[in-house]
Amino acid sequence: MDDGARWRRRAVADLMSTPPVTALPEESMADVAVRMDKEGVSCVVVVAGDRPVGIVTERDVVRFAASGDDPATTPVRRWMTEGPDVVEPTSEAGEVIARLDERGYRHVPVVDGGRLVGVVSMRDVMRIAQVQPMVHPGELEAPKGLAGVIVAETEIGDVRGQEGFYHYRQYDARELAERRSLEDVWYLLFHGELPDARQRAAFDEQVRPQRELPATVRSLLPAIAGAGETFLPLQALRSATSVTAAALDFRPCLDVSATQLRADAVRLCALLPTLIGALYRLRNGLEPVEPHPELSHAANYLWMVTGEVPDPEHARAIEQYLISTVDHGFNVSTFTARVITSTGADLGAAVVGAIGALSGPLHGGAPSRALDMLDAIGSPDRAEAWIRDAVASGGRIMGFGHRVYKTEDPRSALLRTLAQRLGGDKAAFAAEVERTIVDVLAELKPGRELYANVEFYAGVVMERCGLPPEMFTPTFAASRSIGWCANIIEQAGDNRIIRPSARYVGPPPPEPVPWPAE
Ligand code: ACO
Repeated sequence: MDDGARWRRRAVADLMSTPPVTALPEESMADVAVRMDKEGVSCVVVVAGDRPVGIVTERDVVRFAASGDDPATTPVRRWMTEGPDVVEPTSEAGEVIARLDERGYRHVPVVDGGRLVGVVSMRDVMRIAQVQPMVHPGELEAPKGLAGVIVAETEIGDVRGQEGFYHYRQYDARELAERRSLEDVWYLLFHGELPDARQRAAFDEQVRPQRELPATVRSLLPAIAGAGETFLPLQALRSATSVTAAALDFRPCLDVSATQLRADAVRLCALLPTLIGALYRLRNGLEPVEPHPELSHAANYLWMVTGEVPDPEHARAIEQYLISTVDHGFNVSTFTARVITSTGADLGAAVVGAIGALSGPLHGGAPSRALDMLDAIGSPDRAEAWIRDAVASGGRIMGFGHRVYKTEDPRSALLRTLAQRLGGDKAAFAAEVERTIVDVLAELKPGRELYANVEFYAGVVMERCGLPPEMFTPTFAASRSIGWCANIIEQAGDNRIIRPSARYVGPPPPEPVPWPAE
């Protein structure tokens, strides 16, 4: 008999807790709660003589506490589960665990000839179960990387990979980038509708003053910007965001109202560009510049990085880039933000986690690498050999491929047009290299459908508008923070903790733990 079969045959008599902790039906809930605590048990069997007539568990006590009834005068019979399911001492552990699992109980009284002799709990059975994996009905195996798995419902937007289409709420995101301002799109994501003129003005009035740094954060930024030999702006932004959330007294989203959570979200999204600009300037020995009250969110961002009022064409191009990257389905950083929010943590924790996820080269860290690649290729005639070499040595071509898009990424098409409108040698060169890369990848990786993603032209556009390469990913963070926050608000509004499972594939437990060597 293998170990799995052996534990299943063990008799309940060997596992049960005995004598059981009991109560009489007329005893008060207060007395029962005290007894549970004192005895360290999570259930009490209610008896008439030596027969079980009910069971009260910790869960019942918690529900009772929430009811507001008086514990000193409420008899336990009102809150107990009457006529509980029972097992006999000779019942087998395998049979008991199946019953517990099937009916969702955690405890079962044990009776011998109608007389209560003990209680057996899920924990007692698991202790001897040699940790054999149980088969849970409804347990599903998700593909590696959760590819294609739908894990939530959202009203914020979606990505249709086969069609090369994505949208925010009910609007085509590319059309929004063409026709509206970033503030309008921000409003759309937070409020579910595009603002009218009055709402737009009110939102502007709300947002602009919130770009100011809190004094405590301002004094800490030089230390954050100066940390480390190499400046990794997203690391610095992560730290600064964490400090900001503390300075602004963000509270767990479980404890704040939806209105407060949205106010926290507006504050953080308004502030993030200021943090990015200040960190960059401090690291480069420059004084941070104060937010410009007359400028739009996008133009003010350029102002705070460069210290110059931007050319309107550049400000609009950056605004369109920001709009096009505000949100994008359940991408990794958004998912991260929602997972953290699902624990009830504060908005700052969720955004810091999302920044961490975005910093990875496979997610948001690609645009400067894509631009480096263009520099390394140098001229169109060298592109093919360079790409073949990179793929042959197992490398990934930065700015190409996408989990969801199996056709052209619409953001890449938008940014290509934008890059061409802005002009410059890099835009034309990038378009030529893009064609070569698509052809070479189609030959070397047939069937994988690898096309340029949002990151390929992002660097070309941003560089042309005066942003240095180390600002590419932070700029992405500045826009995506709006999408993260919209998702945080949505998750907090209809929450269930996100807690999947993993299949354990290591050596079978439990091996005896060796004593330490003398
Ligand atoms: N260059 C070369 N080959 C690639 C590339 C690429 N950029 N992307 C995917 N492939 C190949 C893989 O090697 C794999 O080939 P195989 O079947 O021979 O093993 C196949 O295509 C499938 O790749 P996966 O890694 O399974 O695809 P996945 O959906 O998991 O990854 C990702 C998507 C991470 C974006 C990937 O395409 C990649 O690494 N791209 C480069 C980095 C990048 O540009 N990231 C930015 C993405 S956009 C964003 O997050 C904002």
